[in-house]
Amino acid sequence: MAHPGIRFDRILYGGDYNPDQWPEEVWREDARLMALARWNTATVPVFSWARLEPEEGRYDFGWLDRVLETLEADGIGVCLATSTASQPAWVDAKYPDVLITDANGVRRRHGGRHAFCPNSANYRRLSTGLASKLAERYGARPSLRLWHVNNEYGTICFCGSCAAAFRRWLQRRYGTLDELNRRWYTAFWSHTYTDWSQIEPPYSHGEGAIQALRIDYHRFQSESLLRCFVAERDAIRRRSPGVPITTNLMGTFFNLDYHRWAEEMDVVSWDNYPWPDAKPEEVAFYHALHRGMKHGQPFLLMEQSPSQQNWQPYNKLKAPGRLRLQSFQTIAHGSDSVMYFQWRRGRGGIEKLHGAVVEHGGDENNRVFREVAEIGRELEALGTATLGGRTPARVAVLFSWESWWAIRCSSGPSADLDYPAAVRSFYAALHRLGIDADVIGPNAPLEPYDVLLLPLLTMVPRELGRRLTERVAQGATLVATPFTGLVDETDLVHPEGAPGPLSEALGVLVEETDALMPGERNAVRWLDGPKADARWLCDRIRLRGAEPMGFYEAGFYAGEPAATVHACGRGRAWYLAAFLQDDGLRAFLKRVCAERGIASPLEGGAEPPEGVEVTRRVQPGGETLTYLLNHSEEHRKVRLPFEGTDLLRGEPVGPEVDLPPLAVRIVRR
Ligand code: GLA
Ligand code: ZN
Repeated sequence: MAHPGIRFDRILYGGDYNPDQWPEEVWREDARLMALARWNTATVPVFSWARLEPEEGRYDFGWLDRVLETLEADGIGVCLATSTASQPAWVDAKYPDVLITDANGVRRRHGGRHAFCPNSANYRRLSTGLASKLAERYGARPSLRLWHVNNEYGTICFCGSCAAAFRRWLQRRYGTLDELNRRWYTAFWSHTYTDWSQIEPPYSHGEGAIQALRIDYHRFQSESLLRCFVAERDAIRRRSPGVPITTNLMGTFFNLDYHRWAEEMDVVSWDNYPWPDAKPEEVAFYHALHRGMKHGQPFLLMEQSPSQQNWQPYNKLKAPGRLRLQSFQTIAHGSDSVMYFQWRRGRGGIEKLHGAVVEHGGDENNRVFREVAEIGRELEALGTATLGGRTPARVAVLFSWESWWAIRCSSGPSADLDYPAAVRSFYAALHRLGIDADVIGPNAPLEPYDVLLLPLLTMVPRELGRRLTERVAQGATLVATPFTGLVDETDLVHPEGAPGPLSEALGVLVEETDALMPGERNAVRWLDGPKADARWLCDRIRLRGAEPMGFYEAGFYAGEPAATVHACGRGRAWYLAAFLQDDGLRAFLKRVCAERGIASPLEGGAEPPEGVEVTRRVQPGGETLTYLLNHSEEHRKVRLPFEGTDLLRGEPVGPEVDLPPLAVRIVRR
């Protein structure tokens, strides 16, 4: 990539700014307030296509020049957005093929946003045209820190242009129709294709029985949208060399394979809108997911709300101190920015009730503004101390969009299977243990990790199976669950049965998989420990060299092996035939990590108390910063195995650390 490990010269602090919704008199006041809030970066213009290009080929940049000059006068830099996520009315009227078509085959009418077809030649031409013009005009501007292409890509299209492009994509992928029929298993229900033209996107009233088609359509649409990003990116890069280019992602967003996307992005950025009752480990999981997309390279937080959302069923305010905690949690997990949506609450449109730094009729005296400004002061005082740090994780949980698509497309074995929740439960268990963990994609390097966890990783192509087996043979510990390694890239069950290419490493064969009914209980009774509750699925397995470590407690298979371990080269591979629940999972992972000498960085490797988050970043110079965050409303105490300095307060801290409610400590040893 053009920018291996981008380095910023400060923590980017700022967010989305929509000056085109306001008269010019307000802009001066905005810049004054931004300076007071210690904003250093305003993201502009995210949704201004109609103002920038009021008719085809006629551009109006005068107003944007004045916006930038106003910001620059107060020392505020810019994250320049390309405005292509919401096309103007004239585009849709003139080029109806730009409008997206839904899964029922219905073409959208003009309106909303994200309503463009990624395979519309007109959309590609017009969007890259606008991006090029912006880059020509502003690409070398000293205040420009970052490019923000489009906004939250992700709506998929089922139109005629997409169908035609899909067929070409399939021809490139499979070469012949025979090969496609074989890989897609179309002998099923007489679905064999005899001409490429017969293949259609998986309309909701069309083909739903061939999972491979549905999975390939997800791949194709993810790639189509990625081509839109790449087209804008390349147009910008030619005219604005050296300025990093990103687009804002959305966590576990189903439609796009973000691991593929990250390969094309200079730096990953994402939008964090936790539910009011989200647990710290859930939010931490999303940060880890984005950090893993570029193999540990710091990411950026592009958006969070300073107070509330407008689109949740109940839009809670963040109580005093919560925004600060959320912001430092972001940095603790690998971000080099803290940014907001949005600067000023709008007066109209469906987001008029969305939280903002400046309230309706507000100024610097409002509560939210004061909290934002205080965070700004703290981040400014940190300077470059936290920038570029990397999480020193030796444990990784695999997350695969393709496995997620495969599980969603699968009929059976259980309606309760929730792939992201499954992966999150593994991450959450580690988080509660205070163990640094990464969330990585199937193509990530495996060498940094001594423990590799593969919850519900159903799609394991041969090559991935080979890489995982090799890493275990070199000495790593592997943990698999029901459904791991069942199918190949086109969702064909491996001929040898599950766990397919991991059979040799795991030393088991899955014979049958039972789904637990709602409320039905089963458990794993460990040979050498308390029992662990199961959920979702219980495999009946045949041992092929693995040693049983736990047995089923209930069902007609009570007493049969429910968890096994197998020596593989210098490593060990565990098969959890039953998917474990939270407490049992935590105890199991604690043991697996302890066997590899992995524990929390607290004294004695202790588990942090309830609500306390502990995580680390190793700075480019080699020093380790330990982050301690108290998410609870109670005082908590932890013990560090050293004495250090709290970077936020400049005071000595440790070995015993007292953490008041919502406290944050960044401890330099
Ligand atoms: C998203 C979008 C923003 C805004 C916020 C509101 O993240 O990128 O434009 O709509 O949601 O929460
Ligand atoms: Zn389309």
